[in-house]
Amino acid sequence: MHKLQYFACPTAMFRAARPVMGLTLCWALIIAAPGQAREAILEGDRFVPVEAKNGMVVTSHYLATDEALKVLEQGGNAVDAAVTTAFALAVTQPRSGNIGGGGFMLISSEQRDEVVAIDYRERAPALASRDMFLATDGSADEALSRYSHKSAGVPGTVAGLALALERYGTISLAQALAPAIRLAEEGFIIPARFSDGINDAADKLRQHESSRKIFFKPDGSSYEPGERFIQKDLAATLKRIAEQGVNGFYQGTTADLIVAEMQRGGGLITHEDLKNYQPALRQPVHGNYRGYDIYSMSPPSSGGAHILQILNILEGFPIASTGHNSALTIHLMAEAMTRAYADRSKYLGDSDFVQVPIKGLTSKTYAEQLRGEIKQEQATASATLLPGNPAPYESNDTTHFSIVDKFGNAVSNTYTINFSYGSHIVVDGAGFLLNNEMDDFSAKPGVANAYGLIGGEANKIEPNKRMLSSMSPTIVKKDGKNFLVTGSPGGSRIITTTLQVLMNVIDHRLNIQAAVSAPRVHHQWLPDEIRIEEGISPDTIRLLEQLGHTVVRKDAMGASQSIMVGGDGRLYGGADPRRSTSSAKGF
Ligand code: DON
Repeated sequence: MHKLQYFACPTAMFRAARPVMGLTLCWALIIAAPGQAREAILEGDRFVPVEAKNGMVVTSHYLATDEALKVLEQGGNAVDAAVTTAFALAVTQPRSGNIGGGGFMLISSEQRDEVVAIDYRERAPALASRDMFLATDGSADEALSRYSHKSAGVPGTVAGLALALERYGTISLAQALAPAIRLAEEGFIIPARFSDGINDAADKLRQHESSRKIFFKPDGSSYEPGERFIQKDLAATLKRIAEQGVNGFYQGTTADLIVAEMQRGGGLITHEDLKNYQPALRQPVHGNYRGYDIYSMSPPSSGGAHILQILNILEGFPIASTGHNSALTIHLMAEAMTRAYADRSKYLGDSDFVQVPIKGLTSKTYAEQLRGEIKQEQATASATLLPGNPAPYESNDTTHFSIVDKFGNAVSNTYTINFSYGSHIVVDGAGFLLNNEMDDFSAKPGVANAYGLIGGEANKIEPNKRMLSSMSPTIVKKDGKNFLVTGSPGGSRIITTTLQVLMNVIDHRLNIQAAVSAPRVHHQWLPDEIRIEEGISPDTIRLLEQLGHTVVRKDAMGASQSIMVGGDGRLYGGADPRRSTSSAKGF
């Protein structure tokens, strides 16, 4: 078995480490061949992907990776491993792994020659209404849409994972839940990322007695790295699902606990909402980029449509020769990105409620028209595309994982509770955090959400509607074979992060680890700026500024856990060093 794991550096090591490709982490490579373990600080060989023959799992948490790998080794398929991973992450990484949120899963089967999407996005409760987040003066009330019981949509994760397993898996729900139950009941050793995350969110978590009980010790103090974290309430909730299936979550004790939590805090979710929640099977959006078939998430995600739209625009430029992260390439990418995000603000929403012009947005003709507007020597000011005044970025979390098995199946899954720790509200007695996904609706046309994204009528709040997402689980096929499995967290940056992994592989021929690790850029129309990670050269920044771009360096973007299938059928895993617990393992 070969495995690659990233660790946050101990202090002494940290001082010695230098920032590498925009990352302030130092990371260690552990390669464990049978009977032999090796640990080394990555230097020259830092972009070597993990290689395997029979199965590959890449997730944002090594404990989840381990559990999924066992499933594959025991003959389970990628969907079995994916559902096991998702439940394990709900225990080991509660900031984003969840049963109180929702997401999207793409499943590719080479045998059936199909790629399907499972939409288990949260839905607005039936009592939700368009202006529910407006204060009396008509302004959008961010505290209400982000940190209140009303910020929670009806969770979809349990129903979505159960559907995936029932239709495409080979193990039972109880089997897929067993590792998660064990990790919750017996606990696990806390890595630094876990306690750091809780400390960062402490003020908000402490505001709710139900959250304080879970995330802090009985005396109120914080957990430290190296200590064991046990979640008895969550274990009991997971057991009810194992015993009763989805009804063990959407009805009975767990539903009662959710509704009681809502009543305590003025939330809207009712027993009826829970009972009525249904995941949806959707057709992914599909397009072609330089001979590769790209499948990605359809509405209620905007991700797939805009990844294709941007790729279609860029296909007309010789990106391989303009070069990776050169000023000209970044300029062309930013120009394509800003146009896509401007369209997103107007056209995208839940396609069960509004007509989304997917065909038009992803057509090569439309891309040609947009490409024609792009000047190689000058940036387009966003104000001339459409006006706006978005809010600043906010810290956040979501999680993506990719799995490939030996049967020709690939799973690409992104799920979330929106911010790190979602609404920060634990359902008392049930031990899990509620999402604050309602903030992904547009509280008011023209007002930005937490990611600075502007939404319009198409994404207004309506009862039972799904809020617009950027999550973009993506699978690329070449000549009918699975080739690349990717996706990312990162709010509005998900679309551009995923896009760059695709371009890094297809245009720039980087191996999957290099493609994942390389510094990223982002433009989302508003704010009118190119956001970059550390690692873009000063000359490049100067050239972009000369073209009229505003260039700003902010925190690292996304965490893309990705897999590439080589021409020889070998599997290559790239874990994202932007998360210290990221892990790629194969066998
Ligand atoms: O669905 C969406 O687009 C957002 N709720 C995702 C949030 C997210 O990725 C935060 N993570 N980094």
